[in-house]
Amino acid sequence: MLIGIYYKFWPLLPFQYKREEKCAMLKPSKPKENERTIAEVESPEDKSFDTALRPVDFTEFIGQEKIKEALRIFLQAAQGRKETLDHILFYGPPGLGKTSLANIVASEMGVNIKTTSGPAIERAGDLASILTNLEAGDILFIDEIHRLPRVVEEVLYPAMEDYSLDIVLGKGPGARSVKLDLPKFTLIGATTRFAMLSAPLRDRFGSVYRLDYYEPNEIKKIVMRSAEILKTPLHETGAHEIAKRSRRTPRTANRLLRRCRDFAQVKGYKNIDSVSAQGALDMLSVDSLGLDENDRRILYTIIEKFSGGPVGIQTLAAATAEETDTIEGIYEPYLMRIGFLTRTPKGRVATPQAYEHLGIKVRPDQKTLL
Ligand SMILES: Nc1ncnc2c1ncn2[C@@H]1O[C@H](COP(=O)(O)OP(=O)(O)O)[C@@H](O)[C@H]1O
Ligand SMILES: [Mg+2]
Repeated sequence: MLIGIYYKFWPLLPFQYKREEKCAMLKPSKPKENERTIAEVESPEDKSFDTALRPVDFTEFIGQEKIKEALRIFLQAAQGRKETLDHILFYGPPGLGKTSLANIVASEMGVNIKTTSGPAIERAGDLASILTNLEAGDILFIDEIHRLPRVVEEVLYPAMEDYSLDIVLGKGPGARSVKLDLPKFTLIGATTRFAMLSAPLRDRFGSVYRLDYYEPNEIKKIVMRSAEILKTPLHETGAHEIAKRSRRTPRTANRLLRRCRDFAQVKGYKNIDSVSAQGALDMLSVDSLGLDENDRRILYTIIEKFSGGPVGIQTLAAATAEETDTIEGIYEPYLMRIGFLTRTPKGRVATPQAYEHLGIKVRPDQKTLL
């Protein structure tokens, strides 16, 4: 009976209202993905900094030791045999170094790299003209390769497999297919969505590497290096604070460093130490785990509107006014990585750790869902 009343009046409990207010307050301020301070995807501002801060060889590329080791051997073997490198696929969340690695592979091999992306190649003819303009040994880097249209992908199969291009000349009954030889090239693909790649495309890569989130001490090294390039006085304690809140992602860490640099300059701090870094990052509402308002809004929505879940991805996207792709590709991987969100066959569920971080009590009926 008591429990019945408790549940009936649950939505009327005063602290519940407070949280709903908080949730509503967070809503209007939804910045676009590439405007978020902690966004992993590249903003126009990042572009110039990414180029300046991009590691140029394996020694400058910090972390991902296993991948570096495997690549070194792979490259050396191909060089020893004077052969073209087999096709490579890098996958993992944005900002972890896929583009950097593709460029490093090219420079270590001493070959040209041509860069394009899945959505930029709309028609089969676009790809055919890119492929026929390659020279032997060149690297073709296709970013966001999961977004290649299917008709384009089909042109890629024979090109990857036996360096040939099947083109159809003419239309109707008079049409005939011509086979063109292509120079031996290496395709490097990068994707944030490995599962969206078709099996035939996946199978045509000689080696596949998954980039994982970095350890805080690696991120610390990365920002220390970036600060040196940017000639910004960064104290170790400041680097530590940035590393803690950078979602274990180099691009985010570099962006936080720039925000801290602005803050220190305007507020008259001589260097970026833990105090000035904390001041800057608090001002940006980046919390101690690197979550910003968007992450918190997603968690609040699951907890408040869907009783902690499970909630289907489409429903969650509609409720948060986000694209399902953005949730799956951007927010979710990190929230899952830190154990705040789990995927179940019925949908997404917020974990007790998420409740704890947001200062919300787990309701008794939630426990059975987790
Ligand atoms: N391992 C690393 N060491 C040093 N800096 C890195 C590393 N990985 C990424 N970065 C930095 O992060 C930026 C974004 O990396 P990028 O290769 O563009 O990521 P992705 O292509 O996976 O989105 C780079 O410009 C570089 O400054
Ligand atoms: Mg990239």
